[in-house]
Amino acid sequence: MSSFISKVKRTHYCGDLGISNAGETVVLMGWAHRRRDHGGVIFIDLRDRTGIAQVVFNPEKNAEAHAEAHKIRSEYVIAVKGTVITRLEGMENPSLKTGQIEVMAKSVEILNESKTPPFLLDTDTEISESIRLKYRYLDLRRQNIQDNLILRDKVASGTRNYLHDNGFIEIETPFLGKSTPEGARDYLVPSRVNPGSFYALPQSPQLFKQLLMISGFDRYFQIVKCFRDEDLRADRQPEFTQIDMEMSFVAEDDIINVIEGLMATIFKSALNLDLLPPFPRLAYAHAISRFGRDNPDTRFGLELVDLTDILKYSNLKFFSDTVSRGGIIKAIKLSEGRRLTRKDLDVLPGYVSDFGAKGLAWARVNESGWTSPIFKFLSPSEVQTINSRMEATPGDLIFFVADSHKIVHDSLGNLRLHLADKLNLVQPDSFSFTWITEFPMFEYSETEKRYMATHHPFTAPVQEDIPLLSTDPGKVRARAYDLVLNGSEIGGGSIRIHRSDIQSLVFKALELGDEEVRGKFGFFLDALEYGTPPHGGIAFGLDRIVMIMAGADSIRDVIAFPKTQKATCPLTEAPSPVSLAQLMELSLKII
Ligand code: AMO
Ligand code: AMP
Repeated sequence: MSSFISKVKRTHYCGDLGISNAGETVVLMGWAHRRRDHGGVIFIDLRDRTGIAQVVFNPEKNAEAHAEAHKIRSEYVIAVKGTVITRLEGMENPSLKTGQIEVMAKSVEILNESKTPPFLLDTDTEISESIRLKYRYLDLRRQNIQDNLILRDKVASGTRNYLHDNGFIEIETPFLGKSTPEGARDYLVPSRVNPGSFYALPQSPQLFKQLLMISGFDRYFQIVKCFRDEDLRADRQPEFTQIDMEMSFVAEDDIINVIEGLMATIFKSALNLDLLPPFPRLAYAHAISRFGRDNPDTRFGLELVDLTDILKYSNLKFFSDTVSRGGIIKAIKLSEGRRLTRKDLDVLPGYVSDFGAKGLAWARVNESGWTSPIFKFLSPSEVQTINSRMEATPGDLIFFVADSHKIVHDSLGNLRLHLADKLNLVQPDSFSFTWITEFPMFEYSETEKRYMATHHPFTAPVQEDIPLLSTDPGKVRARAYDLVLNGSEIGGGSIRIHRSDIQSLVFKALELGDEEVRGKFGFFLDALEYGTPPHGGIAFGLDRIVMIMAGADSIRDVIAFPKTQKATCPLTEAPSPVSLAQLMELSLKII
């Protein structure tokens, strides 16, 4: 151990120093963020996790410390003892929290040297993500990522406190579980002692938390890792963290109330923001019809407006033909239309074609009519009716898509987001929550040629829709709800089926064979028969919540050691091949 360290202890964190410490002798320990040698006086920006303080080494005041400071390079670990002094007028650094003071060094010790880091550790430099993740331990020294992880800790601890205060018990559930169908792909773990058998890492603790309700733990929660082998995106990781909850003897409103209280609490404790629950609720069908998607960003307008009835007999073939084939025509109105040039308009059809749209008609509204490639094909009364339905005024731009329901909603729903992003229509640091309710119970899968559970197969159907389970599953509504924040699904849950007869009906609607159901869920169906209370719950993506709170672009920026888009870890080089001996021990062969 270094002699210095054994004799003196750190007295302060760098970032905590201020005018009130002036005159005090302090001991700081941290990393040399930057060194400036002014051919006499040496300045070192000393950094720890709280921030940066400027340390001054003056050869006339302390020759020995100054000589030592000469040896210090970027990222050396040092301990400094010195006196806090107020900076002279005009010498303050307003960009630094501690910019009104500096520390006049009396002594310094180099506790460890450092190789030159492969990139600058300031927050302004753009560094490729693969390099950042390879040297993640250095990347994590950067202030913005440290802030994100500190925020994450506040959200997690705020959540625990709130849920404990509300009578929830945190219970851990197994990671080595059973592979069950109906979700994403599983991560499998081979069992050495049971050759040929596999555990699956949990995609969520869904069945265990329901079993805990059967056991009588009527308010459960867990902040827990979940594992899903799915295609990754900016807001998806193969392992991610859920705030997972379940409650007995409740209906939708009870769960929604608890969650609105939770959100208000964590936004207050982590960001000092006052949310104003209750949050608006929007039925799934309305979300799709107004915003084109079930995770709408409600911070700006540009809502989808149905024009099918106005244009179904239009002279314009692609409008009337679409409607006669069962399609629809919808439009969005951009009030900031003047900000788009003709060149901008020329590239937008390419954008919507990614979502299957065959075209994107547009119209610039002006005093006398429209400037539009479709104007001459429409009657004056069609134009006038559209203007009035769209509440259009001169300067507005209207975009039209005629196609199937799905393509119209996908393309205009995404165009809406694209335009808001391009034209900065969203006020930064604004938070808009919406509950989405009344999801359909099932979605028809063209690839599987059968219905699939929209949420999961343990979700209760709306009571009055139960008879439809065997006659018209596509019409059954689920007692499910999602919470959407700024256009991102941050949580989802449902009231569960607590009767085994209804659970069996749902498995039937999913066309899961009796044998498959017994093999996969038999243990659960058995448990349902031993006095299961009515229950329901929800799970939140902790990473997603923190990402939005932090204003980060990627979920990877709020996870200490994330995986790349290809599910790899450049730091540890996981996943990696294993030895033949290990494979043999597990009775596995690579084909
Ligand atoms: P669900 O599958 O909707 O529900 O997941 C809940 C929330 O977890 C987050 N999430 C993810 N975050 C990061 N990366 C991923 N790959 C990922 N997948 C999901 C989302 C999502 O809203 N057991 C049910 C919940 C319940 O019914 O109680 C479940 O897991 O924010
Ligand atoms: P066209 O007659 O094919 O040149 O199309 C005239 C305009 O209508 C162009 O701006 C096309 O992008 C647009 N358009 C074509 N098909 C559709 C459609 N299905 N929905 C909306 N606009 C379309």
